[in-house]
Amino acid sequence: MKSMDRLEFLKGTGWMGLAAFAAGCQMDRIGFGAGGTMAGFVAPKLKRFRIGMVGMGSRGTYALHRLSAIPGVEIAAICDVREEALKDNRDFLAKKKLPPAREYLGSEAYKDLCQWDGVDVVYACTPWMLHAPVALEAMRCNKHAFVEVPATMDIDNCWELVETSEATRRHCMMLENCCYGEHELLALNMCRLGVLGETVYGEAGYLHSGPTRGYELSRFRAEWKWEHRGNYYPTHGLGPIAQYMNINRGDRFDYLNSMESTSVADLIRAGDIRWNGNNLESYKKHVVGGYNSSLIRTVNGKIILLNLSCQVPHPYSRMNTIQGTHGIMMDYPLRIDIEDTPGSGPHDGFDAKRTQAWREKYRHPLWKDVGKIAAKVGGHGGMDFIMDLRWIYCLQNGLPLDMDVYDLASWSCLCEVTEQSQARRGAPVEIPDFTRGAWKTMKPLGIETIDLAKINLTGVGGAGPQQSIGVSKE
Ligand SMILES: NC(=O)c1ccc[n+]([C@@H]2O[C@H](COP(=O)([O-])OP(=O)(O)OC[C@H]3O[C@@H](n4cnc5c(N)ncnc54)[C@H](O)[C@@H]3O)[C@@H](O)[C@H]2O)c1
Repeated sequence: MKSMDRLEFLKGTGWMGLAAFAAGCQMDRIGFGAGGTMAGFVAPKLKRFRIGMVGMGSRGTYALHRLSAIPGVEIAAICDVREEALKDNRDFLAKKKLPPAREYLGSEAYKDLCQWDGVDVVYACTPWMLHAPVALEAMRCNKHAFVEVPATMDIDNCWELVETSEATRRHCMMLENCCYGEHELLALNMCRLGVLGETVYGEAGYLHSGPTRGYELSRFRAEWKWEHRGNYYPTHGLGPIAQYMNINRGDRFDYLNSMESTSVADLIRAGDIRWNGNNLESYKKHVVGGYNSSLIRTVNGKIILLNLSCQVPHPYSRMNTIQGTHGIMMDYPLRIDIEDTPGSGPHDGFDAKRTQAWREKYRHPLWKDVGKIAAKVGGHGGMDFIMDLRWIYCLQNGLPLDMDVYDLASWSCLCEVTEQSQARRGAPVEIPDFTRGAWKTMKPLGIETIDLAKINLTGVGGAGPQQSIGVSKE
């Protein structure tokens, strides 16, 4: 890991990155922070733009279905190492009578895609380890880079993405769809309106059952867990909490402690726990690592519990709890309580009717405006489509994105930071300040929506292809 404070390095080195960039897109490492901060960065409007997609597996294919339905967006190129993945998406575009996408086949073919001047934006839906190489290549070729979650598992990569985005003046955004869930945006709205008061504590997680209920880690996830400990999937739960708490916009993550229980698979192998007989071989193969639990402290003194577990029985949950000085929202299931409610005593529990009333009252404008269409289009209950509409709207209208490269880095770096801490018996490990001080002056995210008059969604949803996208819980 590199130095936390790079301000000294920044002085006088900005020209290096820009010169390297001017020399062509195949340059090597860019100088530190060249070009200045990307906080609040606005790119020239891209009214119509062309996307090159890399990794046409499960996530990439669903994304192509959604994105190809949005006006002003063309799927110009697709890339994979598997011909059948290209074929499925080729057939889909043909069926929808959309222009064919240029195809790139092979493990290094994403480089050619990035270099092609027929794309403005590159979106990586590959296994984790490839997100950063694709995004770096895209930015060096003057394309905006969008990546799936987590952006990278590695702190050095986080720095390189930050520095490259700064030097090339290209967006680098991690598409954390869970920031756009109905309940997440409800909580964000309540925080923005001050309903919960000052936030003090949050709970974020990625919890669901494992092979006993039919879930098996995909190959790249399992391979990662065979080699590593720590929280390998922190961003689904943490991204929204970071937004409620204005992380990188008035506060930042300071340090964390992380611990991991004994691996369940190890217990099974050692014969230490009873097994009910189902899926034992699958369990042995796919269940790795234990229950990981981390506690993050922010510079302003807030704390966040961050959990990960996909091997022991647990109904799906991202935890999504935010405690403020005036109230609390807990999720899974949704419960809200706000101070000063007439008739509430100190030992009373949550009230379902009041929760529902507050849910209606504080529904986020994005869900009010496009919630029905998004639910029809699908993609995790609609949140994926709301996210797509929002980042596309921002690009088309020259607005800053809701999540920037500093969010990408400070959320994704926790894969390595949690691993470092748990390897040291839960000792505190510092979390880098990727903004290098810009968090102190960066304004909090507002209550953002889209102007529907500027995006013609007539005909989207309904009987369209998007209905085939299930409402899975990822
Ligand atoms: N945001 C969400 O809700 C969500 C949900 C699922 C997955 N994801 C993320 O999406 C990403 C992909 O997950 P998935 O479930 O679709 O995996 P997947 O295995 O189904 O798809 C990955 C695809 O990448 C292709 N690929 C591998 N190497 C490549 C290379 N060098 N060049 C081009 N293509 C290559 C594979 O052939 C495959 O088609 C992961 O980062 C995952 O964490 C996010």
